Amino acid sequence: SDQSKYNENRKDQNLETFREHPEEQYLTTNQGVRIPHTDDSLKAGERGPTLMEDFHFREKIMHFDHERIPERVVHARGAGAYGYFQVYEPMTKYTKASFLQDPGEQTPVFVRFSTVVGSRGSADTVRDVRGFATKFYTKDGVFDLVGNNFPVFFIQDAIKFPDMVHAVKPEPDSEMPQAATAHATAWDFFSLMPEATHMTMWLLSDRAIPRSFRMMEGFGVHTFRFVNEQGKAHFVKFHWKPVLGAHSLVWDEAQKMAGQDPDWLRRDLWEAIEMGDYPEYELGVQIFEESEEFSFAFDVLDPTKIIPEEVIPVQRIGKMTLNRNPENFFAETEQVAFHPGHVVPGIDFTNDPLLQGRLFSYLDTQLIRLGGPNFAEIPVNRPLAPVHNNQRDGYMRQTINTGKTSYFPNSLGGGCPMLAPESAHGYVHYAEKVEGQKIRSRSESFMDYFSQATLFWKSLTPPEQEHLVEAAHFELGKVPSKEIRERMVGLYEHVDHELAVRIAEGIGVNIPTNNPRPGVQPPSGKRTVEQSPALSL
Ligand code: HEM
Repeated sequence: SDQSKYNENRKDQNLETFREHPEEQYLTTNQGVRIPHTDDSLKAGERGPTLMEDFHFREKIMHFDHERIPERVVHARGAGAYGYFQVYEPMTKYTKASFLQDPGEQTPVFVRFSTVVGSRGSADTVRDVRGFATKFYTKDGVFDLVGNNFPVFFIQDAIKFPDMVHAVKPEPDSEMPQAATAHATAWDFFSLMPEATHMTMWLLSDRAIPRSFRMMEGFGVHTFRFVNEQGKAHFVKFHWKPVLGAHSLVWDEAQKMAGQDPDWLRRDLWEAIEMGDYPEYELGVQIFEESEEFSFAFDVLDPTKIIPEEVIPVQRIGKMTLNRNPENFFAETEQVAFHPGHVVPGIDFTNDPLLQGRLFSYLDTQLIRLGGPNFAEIPVNRPLAPVHNNQRDGYMRQTINTGKTSYFPNSLGGGCPMLAPESAHGYVHYAEKVEGQKIRSRSESFMDYFSQATLFWKSLTPPEQEHLVEAAHFELGKVPSKEIRERMVGLYEHVDHELAVRIAEGIGVNIPTNNPRPGVQPPSGKRTVEQSPALSL
């Protein structure tokens, strides 16, 4: 279109006529001036002071001095890879998302795996949640599935996220401990937040020390919506199932690897791809009717709950293959900007209060991390779909917009072209009906904090249970405050008596005698784990 011609860099096109492509490649400044000598600065006399006019020195040092950008406030350490996604069967019945229609079509992806707590240089194999973020470059724009390797989260409302992250990050006075859960502030917070109990069980389990990014599940965590061409919505939970299966290290291995090869997971991913042993993950969905929203013993908007696979089976609808390492870690893996708000027609949100808060947070943080509002122009972030709008200027603008108009509507031509009708896959938000009073509160339907933690504990094999108890001895055993250790055991008592006894034994506390169960009991007569029929695809 005319507009895409505008968006091409016409200055480069003009200059191309004059550009030379010499065979030899010489060292140059950023202005293209060839440099014959780069080992000594320009001085007044052999032993004299360096001169201000040494433009080569000044440019080289200036650039070096500014090589660092802030690391991500969470998920700072990560490893990325490119690949593609292919759906098995058209998902037309449930969603109009273009990348879920044609089994013959490959949609390019970029994935970034990460730890959450540690800084950019921390060890890979620490006990932590892992991020599993996928950018789909679809024909209808970018869709980011920004998930973790656990299906639940610590907190129910995004307003608690700064508190949670402050508690698990290194402590503010000493900047210790680095990337470890074994510290007082983390357990202090968890012990005061009964809603975190389910997630702490995952954190103490072998799931928190994956053997490889290739052998790790991923979860979208929140309930999302699929919307089809007719405007009908279904609820959906997203899963990634690694074709190699889910495998973990044991704690002794994880600790040794953190010392012997802190890059263990990063290296494993890189080398597998280099060798052509491409990691593969099937995309799974749990789909259910909007009319089923209130049929469960938990709230589907509560991100501390799973929908048990026995209740709604996971249907595998496609496969992602990672087949190319990035060329440059900084340009691609560090500068990639994921955002749960990057959705495409056919995918929509729910009112999960954690998701709603995330929809604000990611763009906000990227504004500073990536130096201004133009980070969508960085190659790894650029959609494949054409971009036309009236956004202009700002730090680091690359696009050379032409013409006089940058407003809509206009009658002078140029600027923003016409609006896309819905039939051209224009994004229209799902018209969910909402009403209510403004109120700072939480629904009682979120307040059963323990049933699913119990379910998780009971789903583990005896060796897995033993690992979890040993992990609790290691992590909680290092918390100096007896009060915190006791409060934690008090919470685990509401999960399972035997679990609480076994943990208490190893950390020098007793189960508290005065230990009322926080929250509410699950409602009776609703769906928990009994079998129920799957919706056919
Ligand atoms: C980064 C997942 C909750 C704020 C990330 C990343 C992942 C992730 C995978 C790393 C993205 C990358 O590789 O670049 C999740 C999941 C959550 C969750 C699954 C809960 C279900 C939250 C909440 C907030 C938040 C509640 C804030 C209200 C952030 C921020 C970053 C981040 C600020 C850094 C982004 C950047 O600098 O580019 N999250 N997160 N997250 N998350 Fe979350």
